[in-house]
Amino acid sequence: MRREADVGGKGIRVPGDKSITHRALMLAALSSGRCCFLGALAAGDTRATAAALRALGVTVGPLAEGRVVRVTGGGLRPFRATDRVLDCRNSGTTARLLLGLLAGHPFEATLTGDRSLRRRPMARITQPLRGMGAEIAAGDGERLPVRIHGGVLTPLVWESPVASAQVKTALFFAALVGGVRVSVTEPYHSRDHAERLLRVLGVRVDSDGAATTVHPVESLPAFDGDIPGDYSSAAYLLAAGVLAERGEVVVEGVGINPTRTGFGRVLERMGARIEVQGRWMSLGEPAATLLARPASLTAVEVHPEEVPGLVDEVPMLACLAARAEGTSVFHGVGELRVKESDRLALVAKNLAALGVDAQAEDDTLWVTGTDRPLSGRVETAGDHRLAMAFAVLAAAPKAAVVLDDVRCVDVSYPGFLGDLARVRAGA
Ligand code: S3P
Repeated sequence: MRREADVGGKGIRVPGDKSITHRALMLAALSSGRCCFLGALAAGDTRATAAALRALGVTVGPLAEGRVVRVTGGGLRPFRATDRVLDCRNSGTTARLLLGLLAGHPFEATLTGDRSLRRRPMARITQPLRGMGAEIAAGDGERLPVRIHGGVLTPLVWESPVASAQVKTALFFAALVGGVRVSVTEPYHSRDHAERLLRVLGVRVDSDGAATTVHPVESLPAFDGDIPGDYSSAAYLLAAGVLAERGEVVVEGVGINPTRTGFGRVLERMGARIEVQGRWMSLGEPAATLLARPASLTAVEVHPEEVPGLVDEVPMLACLAARAEGTSVFHGVGELRVKESDRLALVAKNLAALGVDAQAEDDTLWVTGTDRPLSGRVETAGDHRLAMAFAVLAAAPKAAVVLDDVRCVDVSYPGFLGDLARVRAGA
């Protein structure tokens, strides 16, 4: 389907959407048959999900770029108890969504992760799951490792203090596994991939503006589908196209779910445009070919309600703001402090190391753009999004920027440096 609608076939294809891949693998595990997906992301984070599902007794085929992945569902409570500690590696989505699934299984399981994941907050998910009846013991300050003993769950109405699709999705998964109704309200709407996929699978999902409610089902059907390319990965290449001196960047088959495309809307206010061509739909998700060209940028103000729609692109937008005229302000970006690194502090510190006036205070980030060539050393702290954002700045004309570690891009986009080099060669 996606091949017919693509424009010209001359563009770059980014790997499959990370959020949709996690959700598709987990919901396939809960389905009642064999499922297969084309375009699933084969990278560190989604491999962590596949490995955890296998450890819990689910048959998940190999995840490999360009290959179909097969999952055999075992019904709504498919897991078998395991003595193995479930290692979620660097993936917050794996940890939080898995907790939702385990909450409805009547045995004990232990989850952990790498150093970065073990510092990230889990109270946002352990608290509501305890409210549904799961027994959970967490380490210092409610962090991983976490021991969970699930079982019979009760319905939940939850007002989440943070806008987090991971929390919302985990609670919806608990609703399915526990056979109970769950309503979630968030301060601002976060990405809605779970809701879309659940509706495609025939689950009743009601949205009354503020609250979203998932109703229990008897079973989930097996399903197949084509997972669109990840908008967040595409955003980094499109940004490179905007900063280039000439040429254009075309990225094919990218998911354009409006709860994910805040980056393009902000870029437009900065004076650049992402052109959208040849739309198609798969698994309830719209996708298209995206095109970006060089542009002169002006400073921008980003508001708190926009942040969930561009949360993974803030490092890139901040780096673009470093090349824009004027001072950009990002309001309400405190969540970036509890991502794979303290992204807010490190974006400001690294931009300053390159000679850019940038400051982070509480949940606000200021960046004053400059047209001086950038030079200096960047510390990525093993964070894939920081590595990609600063690699784009490093690839810009006349830059002399060195990154201490770029291998961490493997977490979400293993071929990133090759694709960035293609963009650079086309400029
Ligand atoms: C994700 C949600 C976001 C995002 C992360 C993936 C998801 O996290 O930053 O990369 O798949 O649900 P939060 O839910 O913490 O905002």
